[in-house]
This record gives sequence, structure tokens and C-alpha cells, in this order.
Amino acid sequence: MTGSAVPLLPLDAYRRLLALARDLAATLELDTLLQRIVQAAAELSEAEAASILLYDPQRKELRFQTATNLSDKLQRGTRVPLEGSLAGLALRRRRPIRRQHAHSDPSHYGHLDRLTRIATDSLLAVPLIANDEPIGVLEAVNKRSGAFTDADEEILTVLGAQAAVAIQNARLFLEADLIAELVHEVRTPLGAILAAAQLLRLPQISEPQRRQAIDAIEREARYLNELTTTFLDLAALESGRARFHSEAFALAPLVDEVVQLFAAEIEAAGLTVETAIPPDLPPLKADRGKIKQVLINLVSNAVKYNRRGGKIRLAAYRENGRLAITVSDTGPGIAPEYRRRLFQKFYRVPGSEQRAAGSGLGLYLCKRIVEAHNGEIRVHSKPGEGTTFVVLLPLMP
Ligand SMILES: Nc1ncnc2c1ncn2[C@@H]1O[C@H](COP(=O)(O)OP(=O)(O)O)[C@@H](O)[C@H]1O
Ligand SMILES: [Mg+2]
Repeated sequence: MTGSAVPLLPLDAYRRLLALARDLAATLELDTLLQRIVQAAAELSEAEAASILLYDPQRKELRFQTATNLSDKLQRGTRVPLEGSLAGLALRRRRPIRRQHAHSDPSHYGHLDRLTRIATDSLLAVPLIANDEPIGVLEAVNKRSGAFTDADEEILTVLGAQAAVAIQNARLFLEADLIAELVHEVRTPLGAILAAAQLLRLPQISEPQRRQAIDAIEREARYLNELTTTFLDLAALESGRARFHSEAFALAPLVDEVVQLFAAEIEAAGLTVETAIPPDLPPLKADRGKIKQVLINLVSNAVKYNRRGGKIRLAAYRENGRLAITVSDTGPGIAPEYRRRLFQKFYRVPGSEQRAAGSGLGLYLCKRIVEAHNGEIRVHSKPGEGTTFVVLLPLMP
């Protein structure tokens, strides 16, 4: 803002802001919320376009999230550095940035130009801060006529404050939602454990029944263990609390560790495991615990969705400067029409409930972890023959 006088907002702008505040506070679905915020920002400041970048506290960078005129949703998640972008500058200084000819500013990153094919002329960026925590940046570009004014800056600042709180609420809601889902998921295995325990109390049960009950308790408890770990990891990731500790480590011992965890189940199902990790592989630089979690999920699936007496194969090789880790099984495979949704939260291929207990969170979590490492996860499958998951991770330079 220039000068010391606080500009007075037109009355209808106040009315619009008030109505919006109510609207935003009631929107708990994050994508819808962000879409409403950018629409309102563009409208209120009479700009050609507006966008939101969310702050990623782990990587200390902004990620492009939503824009008013974005045709290609794939552009989501595009990274914008804190240094060397006007949005980053607004967040670092914790105050609005206004530019008349942004494209000629050395700090202009031009991400919105590239994403929306609009050349940025004038730009107004306000930081989104809730409870002193940086949430992201709201940007308006190209005032329809003239330059952005003090009043525009004031309006976007007020909108930004409301937006930041609403985004934080939506995130908290997401977490509460996850907890509700966890409670729901925990009920079935707990019920099975209770039933088995009650059965064990009966004096007249036969030896096979007794063994069955104990097996059930063990199986369900294992599943509960897997489930709670997955949920905790996911909650940490989604709320941005997860921390990644990068270290150099060899893949082969990690693979052995993971396979060892499943020794009992592998034997019980009569499966054979083959590992093919070349000894000359350079070390990985990643969060070992998180990569272990990914492998655990993939091997767990290869065990669960396999045939009796089937095979599991873990291999690794270099591919274009990346490391590919593969986990293959000889299970039922996954039909092409289901593959697209495999990595979505809570998604399970129809009929999976009959094969094994599961929440449909494992692969979603794998994808999140792999992507946080700048990697990629893919699936290849031949129905009736088996499935191979491929994890691609950048190798140490
Ligand atoms: N190796 C596999 N073979 C066949 N189907 C699989 C395999 N891995 C995963 N799937 C399918 O993908 C779904 C999602 O996997 P995941 O997220 O790990 O969930 P969960 O293991 O809890 O079922 C599974 O429910 C299953 O339908
Ligand atoms: Mg799984």
C-alpha cells in the first residue's frame, strides 16, 4: 500500500466479501474451496485470471494448485521456488506485492503465463497466512483496465485472510474425515478378534477350531497393525507434518528386511520369493523408512493378491539415470479398466474384499511417498498371469 491512508472499500465490495466469508467457511472440500477463492479473487479485483499456490513446508516451495482459467488440470502441482518468484517474495515478506509490468521484473517466474498461456502484465500477489503459518499465495493477474489499485490490494488481503483460514479448516476436516474412516475400518477386524476370543473360551471346541481361532486373531491383528501404520503415515503426509530424512543406503539389505517381515505369510501361502538386486547398484539417496513403507505395501499386495504356490519377484535395474525397483506377483492381475483408479484413496478393485482384507490406502500412500521423492510409480499387469509394480527413483548423481 502506498501512503498512510487506508483506502475505503466500496460498500458492495464489503457485502461481497461478507457473503464470501460465509460461503468459504462452509466449504470443506478443498478443491471446491480453492476454485471459489480464485473465482472471487479475479472477480473482486477485476483481473483476467487468478491462481492459488500452496506452500509445501517440507520442500520450502510453492506448488501451483488452482487457477480460474486453467484448462489442463495436469499442470497441478507445478513447483514454483520461493526465491525468484513474485509469489515467493510475497510469502517471504508476508505482505502483498504489486507490479505493473511483471514480465519485465527479474523476480517474475512466469509460471502462470506458461500454464494458462496468458502473458502476465500487471500482477497482485497476497500471502495466505493462518495462525502465523504460511499456507500459500493468492495471485491476480492482468487488471482488465489500468493498474491494480490500493482498494484491490485491500480487498485481496481481506479475501486472502478468509481464504487462509478456510483452507486450514478444510485440511483439519480432511484429517477428521480420515479418523472417521479409520474407526470404520478398525471395526471389522476388531469384531473378528473378539469373536475368535469368545470361541476360545468355549470348553467344547475342537483342536482345528482352536487353531482357526488363533489364526484369525493373528491375521486380523496383523491387518490392524498394517492399517494403523498406513493411516498414521497418511495423516502425517496429508497435513504436511511428515518429514523426509534423506540418507544414502543400499537397496539389497532393505529388500531382504522387507521380505523377512512376510516370512510367515509367504510360507503359509506356499509362495516362493526371488530377489534380483545387482550388487553394483549405486546407493539410493532417499528416506529409507519411507521407501521401506512403499516396499512393504507392494510386497503385502503381492502376498495378498497371489495364488497358492505362486511366486513373488523383487528386482532392480537402472533406467535412464533412475533406479527402477520392481515387485511382481503371479496373482489374478488387474484388468485395464481398473488400473487407472488403482492409486486413488480407498480404491479397491471390485472383488478384492473376497480375496483379502484391505483399506485401499496402500497404493495411494506409495504414490504419495514416491512422488515426494520426485519419483514415479507404475503398474503393468496381465489378467490371469500377474502384476508388476515399478517404482522409479532418481539415483544419486
Ligand atoms: N499385486 C496386486 N495384484 C492384484 N490386485 C492388486 C495388487 N495390488 C493391489 N491390487 C488392487 O489394488 C487395490 C488397492 O491396493 P492397496 O491400496 O494396497 O489396497 P489394499 O491392499 O488395502 O486392498 C487392492 O484392493 C487390489 O484390488
Ligand atoms: Mg495394500
